[in-house]
Amino acid sequence: MPVDVLLGLQWGDEGKGKIVDYLSGSYDCIARFQGGPNAGHTIIIGDNKYVLHTIPSGVFREKTRNIIGNGVVIDPITLVKEIRMLEGAGIDIKDRLKIARKAHLILPTHRALDAASEKAKGKEKIGSTLRGIGPTYMDKTGRNGLRIGDIEASDFRSRYEKLFQKHQTLLQIYPKLDTDLKEEEDKWFEAIDHIKTYDFIDCEYYINKEIDKGKSILAEGAQGSMLDIEYGTYPYVTSSNTITAGVCTGLGIAPGHIKEVIGISKAYCTRVGSGPFPTELEDETGELLRKEGQEFGATTGRPRRCGWLDLIQLQYSIMLNGVTQLAITKADVLNRFDKIGIGTSYSIGGASSENLPFDLEAIDNVNFTELDGWGDLADDIKVYSDLPKPLHRYCDFIEDFLSVNISMISVGPERSKLILKP
Ligand code: GDP
Ligand code: IMO
Ligand code: MG
Repeated sequence: MPVDVLLGLQWGDEGKGKIVDYLSGSYDCIARFQGGPNAGHTIIIGDNKYVLHTIPSGVFREKTRNIIGNGVVIDPITLVKEIRMLEGAGIDIKDRLKIARKAHLILPTHRALDAASEKAKGKEKIGSTLRGIGPTYMDKTGRNGLRIGDIEASDFRSRYEKLFQKHQTLLQIYPKLDTDLKEEEDKWFEAIDHIKTYDFIDCEYYINKEIDKGKSILAEGAQGSMLDIEYGTYPYVTSSNTITAGVCTGLGIAPGHIKEVIGISKAYCTRVGSGPFPTELEDETGELLRKEGQEFGATTGRPRRCGWLDLIQLQYSIMLNGVTQLAITKADVLNRFDKIGIGTSYSIGGASSENLPFDLEAIDNVNFTELDGWGDLADDIKVYSDLPKPLHRYCDFIEDFLSVNISMISVGPERSKLILKP
């Protein structure tokens, strides 16, 4: 069977976790293909809220297998915390999780290097989640990294020491940080011992065999297309390929296997960390979006920057990813707004543009279309036709502009608050 992909089309936090959890009952396997514990995917089931950082969001379904693919970077300490949290919730995680041998390991010194580099950048900092993501991917492409498969080698400790020493040398160029690396190192090795008891796989063989057996696979993206290392708002991006292309390298599958690409977008737009954000609202409207949407980071708790939906930006992400269907999340957050803005073109140097420029700071102005709001949504709406007419017009406008169908509208954080659009 083909592989479907689900990913974020904006700057992350689009509600990917919620939609993957909803869809995961219909897939045999959910696979994360990039990113690491910089991700925070929230899933609400009944009265319980779970935030997953490294483990795929299919873990709540008994029959679904979850793969941490080789494109992911793993912090053993965070992973074990997540495992324990799930075990505490009565989930038999051991049976459901497989870890790629070629996935790279985040060392405590990677985290220290991330913090030191951000501190040294001062005002120009990326606004990284400080999870060691950038330094770990740097060691991967620099061909210095340690991988999950190295844990199985008899000289793992000395491989670790070699990388640790390199990091110590690098850290000397930065002002000293206030971290107890020894304590972190002890915790890290304890976590490694725990992870060893899990099923390590050769991801590329495993996934391709599953495909051959006719199993259905959903690749779960982390971050969003505008944080992609190649095509995002560089340098204010993460260090991996967050777009569909990353699925092939991150899981070891050929492009021809990919079928549906489900792009997730909020009904408005948010961003955490630094960098350009054309439709950002730094006024009371932005404040209201943050309040209504509870826009605080699932990983770092930082307030998210908020603004209107940007269709030029979405069109760009749809092009990069080959999106075949859209899921719009957090439509309920706009209930309180009489008028809803949608960015439809940019003014750059006196001319109108429907393309993203090389540097988004070059955008002088965003031109908005204003649509009517829809007021409160009744709690029991289950079918699209029962949604208020202004919300239908809002969806029609987006579909017409982007020439892509909306297949799902999320109207609340809970599993049940999802409306399928015919
Ligand atoms: P992810 O990183 O893309 O998985 O998204 P996050 O979990 O970081 O952030 C999305 C937030 O919005 C979480 O707190 C979700 O519980 C919440 N959420 C998801 N869908 C909806 C929705 O339709 N309405 C509302 N109000 N909240 C939602
Ligand atoms: P999910 O999967 C939102 C942002 C950080 C920072 C930049 C680089 O939950 O959507 P990094 O730690 O990767 O070096 O940070 O990317 N960022 C995210 N923003 N959601 C995420 O993940 C993010 N992961 C990283 O805020 O601006
Ligand atoms: Mg998130």
